[in-house]
Amino acid sequence: MFLELGQRPDEAGPPINGPAAYPEHVTARLTAEAEQITARYPDARSALLPLLHLVQAEDGCLTPAGIGFCAALLDLTDAEVTAVATFYSMYRRTPTGDYLVGVCTNTLCAIMGGDAILDALQEHLDIHAGETTADGRVTLEHIECNAACDYAPVVMVNWEFYDNQTPSSARDLVDGLRGGTPPAPTRGAPLCTFRETARTLAGLTDPHTPGGVPGAATLAGLHEARKRGMSAPEAGPVS
Ligand code: FES
Repeated sequence: MFLELGQRPDEAGPPINGPAAYPEHVTARLTAEAEQITARYPDARSALLPLLHLVQAEDGCLTPAGIGFCAALLDLTDAEVTAVATFYSMYRRTPTGDYLVGVCTNTLCAIMGGDAILDALQEHLDIHAGETTADGRVTLEHIECNAACDYAPVVMVNWEFYDNQTPSSARDLVDGLRGGTPPAPTRGAPLCTFRETARTLAGLTDPHTPGGVPGAATLAGLHEARKRGMSAPEAGPVS
């Protein structure tokens, strides 16, 4: 068996480029918003992840200015903030389009057609995974399992679900995104732009997420277990 370790093939590595610092008025605005975020935590450093979404909403990706802003605010070094930021693939190291289109190519989605969808989108958009279309609308990437295997193959746009996709439906999806008529996600919150979504993840906007009702495919195993009289063991005492 051959295992290739290291970063994903379409993931940009260091360095993180961009402006070294924000203009004064931007720092003042971001500081006011960051204070709303840090106030929710007993220890301000615990707010680093939402703060990284805040600066990602400002720049569309990680920049030295954003890293430095978080470091100064939380009394950390740039290296410490970078170490955290580069651990998570949701923090982007290169400029990102209005819509980050992620095609799941993990095992189940791949078997159900995820690889074919990624190939079809690369050809249709004339870009490789990790790149952005010339109009700045769509960034394409392959993503790991998003715990939506019951709706495989899944495409995520700004982390909203588009279930049971095919090469043809995925092509229609990106055409809608580029043409200003994005189809609604299959479930969950309405679709926003990448930067708007980053503000939501920073905790600054209300996503107005409807209901959160699990779908039939998600509940199928539960129904089957009940039919067979199966149940989970009682939880033990919490120590
Ligand atoms: S393998 Fe694609 S969502 Fe799990």
